[in-house]
Amino acid sequence: MASKSAKQRPVLIVNGPNLNMLGARQPEIYGKETLADIERACRAAAKELGLTVDFRQSNKEGELVDFIQAARSANSAIVINAGAYTHTSVAILDALNVAELPVIEVHLSNIFRRESFRHHSYVSLAAQGVICGLGSQGYLLALRALAPQLLGKSKK
Ligand code: DQA
Repeated sequence: MASKSAKQRPVLIVNGPNLNMLGARQPEIYGKETLADIERACRAAAKELGLTVDFRQSNKEGELVDFIQAARSANSAIVINAGAYTHTSVAILDALNVAELPVIEVHLSNIFRRESFRHHSYVSLAAQGVICGLGSQGYLLALRALAPQLLGKSKK
C-alpha cells in the first residue's frame, strides 16, 4: 500500500512535563486554559486549515522521544512544547533530528523574559521557527505556518 501523503498524515502536537497541569499551574504565567482547551482549539484550527492532528502529552522524557521517533513515519510535521525539557534534553533534540520533519517550537510564556536558564533551547536547534509568549495562540499560529507547506501551497 502506498504510504500516506503529507496531507493525510496528522501533525504531531507534542507537550512535555507539567503541561497537563495547565489551568491550575501558575495561571499568571501560563493562563487559565487547560491542555484540553488547547487541544480543542488546535483541532478546530486544523479542521479549518484542512489538517488533522495527533495531540499528545507526557511527563516522561523517554515517552516524548518515542512519540517523536514514531512521527517520522506517522506524522507530517511536529509542533512541540517540550516544557522544561526544552532547556535540558539532548535526547529530544536528537529525536527531532531523526524525524526529518518540519518542526515548530512553541512556548506559552515568553521564555526570554524569564529566568536565564530558560533562554537556551535545545529544541530550537531542530526548529524551523519558534513562537513564544503568545499563550495558546502560539499553537494555532504554528499550524497556520505549517498548512501551506504541508498542503503544497507554499510560495517558496
Ligand atoms: C514552557 C516554558 C518552559 O520554560 C517551562 O518549563 C514550561 C512551559 C512554556 O510553554 O512557556 O513547562 O515551555
